Amino acid sequence: MNDQLQMLPAYFQLMNMNGAAHVYHEAVRSGLLDALQPEPATLSELSVRGGSHERATRLMLDVLETLQLVKATGERWSLTLLAQMLLSGSYRELGDLYWSHLPAFLKYGQPLVKMDDAAKSETYYQTQAAALAWMLGPTAELAAESLHTEIGSAAEILDLGAGSAIWSLSLARRADNRCVTAVDWPAVLEVATDYARQFELSDRFQTLVGDFHKLELPASKYDLAILANVTHLQTPAANIALFRRIHAALRPDARLAIIDVFPGLSDGDLNRTLYSLGLALRTEHGRVYSVEELERMLMEAGFETPRLANLHTPPYIMGILVASRSA
Ligand SMILES: C[S@@+](CC[C@H](N)C(=O)[O-])C[C@H]1O[C@@H](n2cnc3c(N)ncnc32)[C@H](O)[C@@H]1O
Repeated sequence: MNDQLQMLPAYFQLMNMNGAAHVYHEAVRSGLLDALQPEPATLSELSVRGGSHERATRLMLDVLETLQLVKATGERWSLTLLAQMLLSGSYRELGDLYWSHLPAFLKYGQPLVKMDDAAKSETYYQTQAAALAWMLGPTAELAAESLHTEIGSAAEILDLGAGSAIWSLSLARRADNRCVTAVDWPAVLEVATDYARQFELSDRFQTLVGDFHKLELPASKYDLAILANVTHLQTPAANIALFRRIHAALRPDARLAIIDVFPGLSDGDLNRTLYSLGLALRTEHGRVYSVEELERMLMEAGFETPRLANLHTPPYIMGILVASRSA
């Protein structure tokens, strides 16, 4: 009896995840969700428009409501913000493009695409940067709180592989003297420049365009370097080389903050294992490193005393590993 009780949550979770995914996919495929935009609709309007059975449509809507994708106001159904974001973005199919590659991946171990290929990453991340900023916005706020205390009055932040620059901008806006230099490919930096405008930080924001492995970085200039969601795209050798370049660009008492996927929060266990698998489906060298592996790479590049802080916000997989630059 006890064994059964322990198994039941996992059983229902798995059955529900599968059922929910089926309902979502059918609601997209049949046009049920799209029929709720731009205007809300009643159940009978929806059934007539989609040529669908009214009772079946209602049962689908009830599930979609518990998934927070639709809401009812009186007789009219509308899309939630979450559904609007999903339907208009690159996750409309919940990443099915990658998941459908699983059979081939299992057989040959090769990814579907190589998002970590420097020649291609600009195109991929131009579209991904804003989605990442949306997903990790609350986590970036929490990280900024923690780093704000850590760096005190330090002003110059270097954000490498910045994407939207959400991590450095969230930190910069907590003190009037902080400036951000964002490094990335030109098309991605357009997204970061737009975010700097939205954060009203354009006057304290600049860009360095190009490959962070090759660009000439100013020597001994920065108080803090941020590498967010970058180390998991690099080989260990490339990480060590990048850490060395960063070391030379930092002031003697400065820090490097690696913001990435780390274990430590059990609420994030499924997110993290799926993330690792997803990374292998879309990158050639991508890998979630353990704290110990990153510590070794940091030490080899001249950094000291790395300390990890887990970030307690969804998806409960992110953490900050802060290391000091040794003199
Ligand atoms: C996974 S995204 C992370 C973006 C951002 N730091 C965040 O966490 O939202 C990795 C970023 O690194 C950039 N990137 C990858 N390789 C790069 C390279 N060799 N030089 C400059 N930027 C690079 C990509 O364009 C992308 O914006």
